[in-house]
Amino acid sequence: MNKQIIGIIGSGAMGAGIGQVAAMAGHSVVVYDNNSASLERAKASLAATLQKLEEKGKIPSAADVLHRLIFADDIHAFATCELIIEAIVEKLEVKKAVFTEVEKVVSDTCILASNTSSLSITSIAAACAKPNRVMGLHFFNPAPLMALVEVIPAIQTNTALITLARELMAQWGKTPVLAKDTPGFIVNRVARPFYSEAIRIYEEGIADMATIDWAMTEIGGFKMGPFTLMDYIGHDVNYVVTETVFHSFFFDPRYKPSFSQKRLLEAGWLGRKSGRGFYNYAAGASLPEPNKDMEAGKKIFERILAMLINEAVDALYLNVATAADLETAMTKGVNYPKGLLKWCDEWGIENCLVQLDTLYNDYHEDRYRASVLLRKHVFAKDKLISNFTK
Ligand SMILES: NC(=O)c1ccc[n+]([C@@H]2O[C@H](COP(=O)([O-])OP(=O)(O)OC[C@H]3O[C@@H](n4cnc5c(N)ncnc54)[C@H](O)[C@@H]3O)[C@@H](O)[C@H]2O)c1
Repeated sequence: MNKQIIGIIGSGAMGAGIGQVAAMAGHSVVVYDNNSASLERAKASLAATLQKLEEKGKIPSAADVLHRLIFADDIHAFATCELIIEAIVEKLEVKKAVFTEVEKVVSDTCILASNTSSLSITSIAAACAKPNRVMGLHFFNPAPLMALVEVIPAIQTNTALITLARELMAQWGKTPVLAKDTPGFIVNRVARPFYSEAIRIYEEGIADMATIDWAMTEIGGFKMGPFTLMDYIGHDVNYVVTETVFHSFFFDPRYKPSFSQKRLLEAGWLGRKSGRGFYNYAAGASLPEPNKDMEAGKKIFERILAMLINEAVDALYLNVATAADLETAMTKGVNYPKGLLKWCDEWGIENCLVQLDTLYNDYHEDRYRASVLLRKHVFAKDKLISNFTK
């Protein structure tokens, strides 16, 4: 699978980023978009980015890389591609229609991948005449900087493609992990409580946003607090992923979205990009100060951490990924300070279970049910969850 021609569908944030990665790895890359203004923007921004990389000595020649990038508004430009990665709008029907069209243009052996954050790869594959050539390749934003790529076979995917994809991603300097085709794959599933439990604590009036953010960064060691991070990602993206995951999990209360975040979306308060989200970013506005009470902060941090660990352990139990891939995904996909399974072992698996059972007893909500694997492991006292294999 060396130096094939790569096709990218969509020249937005992700498509342009993935195109850059592939071109820097030495491939010829065809970037197709049905919006010529978006193509022009991508071309200009990639030229500027590559120029900066050349000036910093990170690449020998921006012109060489740019030369390998072709920008096309006609889908027929994909005729010679051997791998296509789709990164268009996150709508299942639109993606299915595009895959059907692309399949008419490419060769029989061309592999088709989707960069979807939360849609079913199996469902996208079903739109194709050859569903066994379809898979998920989920990059993280910004694609040139984030190492993680989730490799997601659909139930129809030819399993030989998994090895090919993992090898290719490694050649591109990426760290591939294998994820089952379940809602949110690894990262967008396991990370949900970071946002939702923080919002729940805020909605209950236990602490304000600034204090929760402070607890998670200062006590927890996360790079950004949940409210700052949601404002940064944008509520149009973060809320929609939460809602999609919730619907896709047949309305499991563990993934229930919040009204607080839904209202922000309805108001158009999308976060940093619109100048206002949970916080106000208008010129002259000041960010609220946290209440730096260590005891209260520790309680907030441990509640969110227990929920995150529970999610990781349950994903392990349900074979969404191996323990090693779960740890890699959370440290390289969302920059968590450590893998959640290792964190569980360090904190003490009993402490984690006590935290969850206390929440469950207080609330009597299914949201707080502990994973059966966590409970089983507490009984098998000598075993570390981070070493777990079946
Ligand atoms: N932005 C992120 O943080 C992120 C991270 C990982 C995965 N993703 C996923 O990547 C995909 C793209 O996200 P994005 O943030 O780059 O979106 P974006 O809005 O920046 O770009 C989407 C591009 O697709 C083009 N497009 C839309 N419909 C098209 C069609 N029918 N044919 C051809 N081009 C079409 C648009 O013109 C636009 O240029 C989505 O599935 C998203 O869930 C996004």
